[in-house]
Amino acid sequence: MKNVVLVGFMGTGKTTIGAALSKELGISQIDLDEFIVKREGCSIPELFAEKGEAYFRDAESNYLEELLAEGPHIVTTGGGVVLRQRNVQAMVTNGTVVALSASEEELIRRLANDTGRPLLAGGVEQRVRTLLAERAGAYDFAPIQIDTTGKSVPQIVEEIV
Ligand code: S3P
Repeated sequence: MKNVVLVGFMGTGKTTIGAALSKELGISQIDLDEFIVKREGCSIPELFAEKGEAYFRDAESNYLEELLAEGPHIVTTGGGVVLRQRNVQAMVTNGTVVALSASEEELIRRLANDTGRPLLAGGVEQRVRTLLAERAGAYDFAPIQIDTTGKSVPQIVEEIV
């Protein structure tokens, strides 16, 4: 069995759905952000602040390829993993990619009190609107598209399965 890779904007529920999907399918879940934090020995905000986004993106690409090669896993990714064509290629080649989405208003509501995402610093609402516009179409390559707005976790898992 191939990897199952969950992609989508911040707040679309990738980690939560990945955990539930993992139970349902009996395949281990590995969260790419958590893996980066473990390997690098510091938090995502610390990595961005101390080493910069380019360093984070390189680490993200390298660890993604490592995880895809050792699978099958359910790999839950960070929202920006789709920004590099190299990553998109690796995910499509080595897994079944599922893109989760939610409406702009729903994402703003879910992310309103977030403090752990450096790209949202300076005002969640404006940053979400800007990044969503910048990333329009970036998740469309995934053959399975699931809008999570207004749906429960079991409903979403059932749809994916
Ligand atoms: C990012 C999303 C985050 C994390 C980092 C950058 C992004 O993951 O990888 O803060 O560029 O969209 P989540 O999508 O799990 O929040």
